[in-house]
Formats: sequence, structure tokens, C-alpha cells
Amino acid sequence: MAQFHCRWYNLVICLCSPCICLLLFFIYACVMLSIKMTNTSVYVSQLGPHFVASGTFRNVSFAPMPRTFWEQPSQVKALWNHLQLVSERRYNPILRPNISKLRFDSESLLWEGYSEYTDLENGTSNFDAQPQRMKDFVSHMQQRDFPILIQPDGICGAGAKNEKKRPLLLMAIKSSEFNFRNRHAIRQTWGRAGWVAGHSRNRSRGEETGGYVRRVFLLGRESPEVLGVDVSELLQSESKLYGDILQWDFKDTFFNLTLKDVLFWKWFSHVCGPIHFVFKGDDDVFVNTMNLITYLQDQLQKPQSHKTLKEFMVGQVVSMAVPIRESNSKYFIPDSFYTGLYPSYTSGGGVVYSGLLTRRLHLMAKRVHLFPIDDVYVGMCMARLNTSPINHPAFLTIGLHEDEKEPCFYHRILLVHKRSPIEIVNLWAYMKKTQTECRDVPLKEIGQGQGT
Ligand SMILES: *[C@@H]1O[C@H](CO)[C@@H](O)[C@H](O)[C@H]1NC(C)=O
Ligand SMILES: *[C@@H]1O[C@H](CO)[C@@H](O)[C@H](O)[C@H]1NC(C)=O
Ligand SMILES: *[C@@H]1O[C@H](CO)[C@@H](O)[C@H](O)[C@H]1NC(C)=O
Ligand SMILES: *[C@@H]1O[C@H](CO)[C@@H](O)[C@H](O)[C@H]1NC(C)=O
Ligand SMILES: *[C@@H]1O[C@H](CO)[C@@H](O)[C@H](O)[C@H]1NC(C)=O
Repeated sequence: MAQFHCRWYNLVICLCSPCICLLLFFIYACVMLSIKMTNTSVYVSQLGPHFVASGTFRNVSFAPMPRTFWEQPSQVKALWNHLQLVSERRYNPILRPNISKLRFDSESLLWEGYSEYTDLENGTSNFDAQPQRMKDFVSHMQQRDFPILIQPDGICGAGAKNEKKRPLLLMAIKSSEFNFRNRHAIRQTWGRAGWVAGHSRNRSRGEETGGYVRRVFLLGRESPEVLGVDVSELLQSESKLYGDILQWDFKDTFFNLTLKDVLFWKWFSHVCGPIHFVFKGDDDVFVNTMNLITYLQDQLQKPQSHKTLKEFMVGQVVSMAVPIRESNSKYFIPDSFYTGLYPSYTSGGGVVYSGLLTRRLHLMAKRVHLFPIDDVYVGMCMARLNTSPINHPAFLTIGLHEDEKEPCFYHRILLVHKRSPIEIVNLWAYMKKTQTECRDVPLKEIGQGQGT
């Protein structure tokens, strides 16, 4: 009996020891992984689809997004969150049964909310606690109706001539009055309007891909007193020549960039017909237009695309980012202005969304108070629409890219940030030169050499 017991015991050890070894190895791997994660200041997820910004809380308690990003504990009185809460109450159909009649047609409820807050809380509001920069922002944040100074002649951007099909893409590029060279470089390279061929990668021969592209530059106004030059006449003639300038009468400052989104959405909704997609980006990025065209054609061909395109937004997604609290940063947002995490947003260097979504964003923006950081604001409107952007690793808007020296690097991307006008022109020539040798390289995918 004892002997039998002993043999049985050996058998168990024989069977179980590999399992125990595996378990130990698994635990070891987990521990090593978590140590690695806590050591790197910027952690780019190789597993998940999202970029995680530095300073992000990675512990579980912060992981789930709040259902509504403006919610906060009642004792916190951050100005923006409070304003948004007041407006949410005004739009609440239970508290205000007449709301359905008002629908989305006016911005008045947002303004009512603003004055209610500033009137009632005069003295007690923490307006006075804000740094000067925020005070300037807050005192203008309810104004959105800036007049248009220059716009393309009654049509939606340059390139409408000879279109034989519904345009695929409108390139809306944030620029500023003095960036003539950037605009010039973009016009002759990645921002060319008219028919643009896609990348022929992996397509059966004879099947031509491509689409009609329009282009418009989004500008505010520099103050001539500050720089001593007035370029408004130059801009007028630039607009006559190219028909791609859209300028509003507001000061072109960092905190006013959000106005470019909001006013562009409005302009698009009124002026532009059924354009499939909008690219919105900076005038110092490089876009691989051929890849982008093919990528967007693929989206149109997907089953149920008419449904999915209603919420289609793609770019480099920043998730669970914490507002920057260092007062010397360009992105500084004090605690007294905004509390909580930012909703997921696409980095503003370059992002693509559907024309359908643009119209929905235009309507939703009437219910969300302006926020000084433009890409975060777009994320807020997306969260308010109950949807979130898609991350694509071929949008390189943040950080450095180790594989940049590879010969076919630029053939594998959709967008890369920070390129001077000269670099843009040179890169474009380089792209043409290496076209045949890099023909079959695939687009970057998740987990492939995302630099930090
Ligand atoms: C999560 O991280 C934040 C910031 O580091 C910290 O304040 C908080 O206490 C942490 N929560 C838990 C449950 O560890
Ligand atoms: C709703 O509409 C009715 C009639 O149109 C009006 O008398 C009432 O004051 C409205 N209520 C609110 C909360 O605006
Ligand atoms: C707020 O108070 C200041 C003086 O304390 C006053 O000048 C201003 O008119 C008040 N604003 C409103 C909206 O009541
Ligand atoms: C791309 O080409 C490869 C090999 O040439 C093939 O196996 C694959 O199915 C193609 N993919 C598509 C989407 O056509
Ligand atoms: C935005 O533009 C308006 C109109 O030109 C200006 O009054 C305001 O100061 C600007 N806001 C910021 C934050 O620069």
C-alpha cells in the first residue's frame, strides 16, 4: 500500500513540475514587465492600440474613464468643469422638457450657462484665481461668431474643377499669415489638389485607385502692430491665385486654435457638399498622400461603411492623459481651470475624419465650452458624441522614430510631424525616386517600431 502510494506520488510530481515551472516563469515575466513599464517615462504600448502620454496614471483606480469627462467631486470647483456642468443641466431633457424643440439649433443655452455662472458666482467664482493667460481665455471663450475675412470663391476649397466623382478628401491645413513658404511647399507636394492617385500596393493590375482632393488653409490674424507688417493684401492675392485661403478675424494665438476647429466645422457644414473625408493637420507635417488615399478608399469599401463612417476618426490617439500642471509649459492648464483626465484624443498634428462626423462635431460643439487646447477639445466633442477615435501607428505625430533612417520609412507611414518646407520638398522628391524599390512595403502596423 505504501509502495503504491509512493509511485502515485512520483507520478503527480512528474506531471505537475512542468506546470509549476511554467507558472513561475509567468510570474517572473509579469514582474519584469511591470518593472519595465514603471521605469520608462513615456510608455508606448506595444500591446494595446493606444499611445499613453507621460505622467499618465497607470494604476487600476484611474484606468476606467469617467462616464462623462467633466464630472467631478462636488467640492472641486474647476472653472471649466463647472461651466460645462451648468450647460449640461440646461441641455438635460428631464430638467427641461422643452429641450427637444430647441434641438441643436442655437448656441444660446451655452451662453446662458456661461452668464449664469459668471453672474451668480461673481466674487465666489475662481475666475480671480486663474493665471492671466487663462483669464484672457475665459473672458473670450463664449465668443465664436468671428467673421470670415477671406474664403475660397463660393466653393469648398481649391481643386473643384474637372471633378468627375464625389471628392474623396478635403485637406484642411492650419497655417498662419506668415507661413507663405509652408503653404507653397505643401501645394506642390503632399497637398496637391485635383485627382490624386493612390498607392498601387498589392492591387491587381489595371485597377486604378485614387480620388479627388481639395485643399484649404485655415488662418487667423496676426496683429500688424506687433510685427510691423501687414500682409493682408499679399494674402488677398494669394487667395486669388490659389483659391485655398480661409481666414477669420480672430487673433492667431495658441489658445485660439480651437476656434479654427469650431469655425472650420461650421464652414464645412454650410459650404461643403458630400465630401467623404477631411484631413486636418499642421502646415509643418509631411503626409504620404498616396498611402492616405488608398487607406481611405479601403475604408469606403468596408462593409457597413455608411454606418461606421458616422464616427470615423483616425490618428495617433492619446489616452488617459493628465493635464500638464507645470506653469512654464505651453500646454499648462491649472487645477483651478480643469480637473480630471482628458478624454481620448487624436494628436492635432494630423488627423482624418469623415465628412459625416464633421457635421456631427459642428452640432455637438454648440454644447461644449471651448477649451484652450484644440486637440483635447476635439476629443471632448468626440466623448460627448459617445464615440472615440481610432489609433493608427502610421500617424507619427509624437516623439522620435528610430527607424527613420530605413530607406523605405516614408513609404510605410501616413504622416510624420515637424518637417520644414525645404525638407517637405526634398522628401517628396525622395519619395518619387524610391517609388519602385519601395513599392511593396506595407503600412506600419501595431507593434512595429513605434519609437518613443
Ligand atoms: C494611483 O496613482 C495616483 C498617482 O500616482 C495616486 O495618487 C493614487 O493613490 C494611486 N491609487 C492607487 C489605488 O494606488
Ligand atoms: C415649455 O413651454 C411652455 C409652452 O411653450 C412654456 O409655458 C414653459 O414655460 C416652457 N418650460 C420651460 C421650462 O421652458
Ligand atoms: C462682478 O462684480 C464686479 C465688482 O465686484 C462688477 O463690476 C461686475 O459688474 C460684476 N459682474 C457681473 C456680471 O455682475
Ligand atoms: C497582398 O499580397 C500578398 C502576396 O503578394 C497576398 O498574399 C495578400 O493576400 C495580398 N493582400 C491583399 C489585401 O490583397
Ligand atoms: C482670440 O481672438 C480674439 C479676437 O481677436 C482676441 O480678442 C482674444 O484675445 C484671443 N484669445 C486668446 C486667448 O488669445
